[in-house]
Amino acid sequence: MYIQNSINLHLFFMRIMKEHMFFIYTAFTKADLSMSNEAKDLMNQASMMLEKFVNIAPEYVSEEVKSSNEIVTNHTLEAEQKTSNLTGVPINTNITQNEYNLLTNPSTYYEISVEEMNQLNTEAHKLVTNIIKFKTTLLTRVLNCQLFTQNYPLLIDHILSEAKLYLDLIENLGNPNSTVSYNEFISTEKFWNEIMSEHSAFIRGLLDPSEGELINTANNFANNFENLNKMLDNNSNTTIQQQILLETSNIKKFKEAAVSGLIDCQIKSVILPLLGDHVLREANHYFRLLNQPNSKY
Ligand SMILES: [Fe+2]
Repeated sequence: MYIQNSINLHLFFMRIMKEHMFFIYTAFTKADLSMSNEAKDLMNQASMMLEKFVNIAPEYVSEEVKSSNEIVTNHTLEAEQKTSNLTGVPINTNITQNEYNLLTNPSTYYEISVEEMNQLNTEAHKLVTNIIKFKTTLLTRVLNCQLFTQNYPLLIDHILSEAKLYLDLIENLGNPNSTVSYNEFISTEKFWNEIMSEHSAFIRGLLDPSEGELINTANNFANNFENLNKMLDNNSNTTIQQQILLETSNIKKFKEAAVSGLIDCQIKSVILPLLGDHVLREANHYFRLLNQPNSKY
């Protein structure tokens, strides 16, 4: 279970980290070359770590994770190619290709021992700690108006909290008590509802002002997820649980349509296709967790 939990965790989150660093790296101005270089370095390190995890046995990936579309979606490869062309920043799509193979025809794999897994978890822990430090410095500098970036301060704060969650989950991997308590499940819901609400707010703000209908839809999602969290603060009954599941399923569909629209150039915005695919994968991840309330990873 320890190895399976570790692999499931890293396949989702290490890709998220690598893409966060990509979004940070591509949003700097020429004034901040040294932070820009640091971002690039962390992005490359995350990419290399992801590659290691992808090369480990597909047999360790749970069926639920395989079918959730949280590691890659049908759009990931195309979103990466377009994003790489648009930004001029290369993306190693061999990893993506291997991720598709991992999910469809697990032919080659490499057995891993608990000791080797421990070693990789330590490496991942170190890298995520450095990423957290970097994002914290970046956020402080942005909030003090010492640095300009194309990313919203809330987006930096958002990706910082995702990195902190990842670190927390890495630290809990060795914990033999892997059952999810009621309170833990509710706090997971609160975390991801907040994330879904913020994604919607980012989409709302990054769409071209002429995209009125999409802006309204995104705005509604932002409010709905916020309201769900207010309801969770008061109590949690079956009705709220059903509403959360329905709203998450709806935002998945919305993001899916958005990624297609971004790739096909049908939406006017300042959203990179890869950012669209990234937030879709997070919705897919949350949807799986909702359907597996007893699973932490
Ligand atoms: Fe996110």
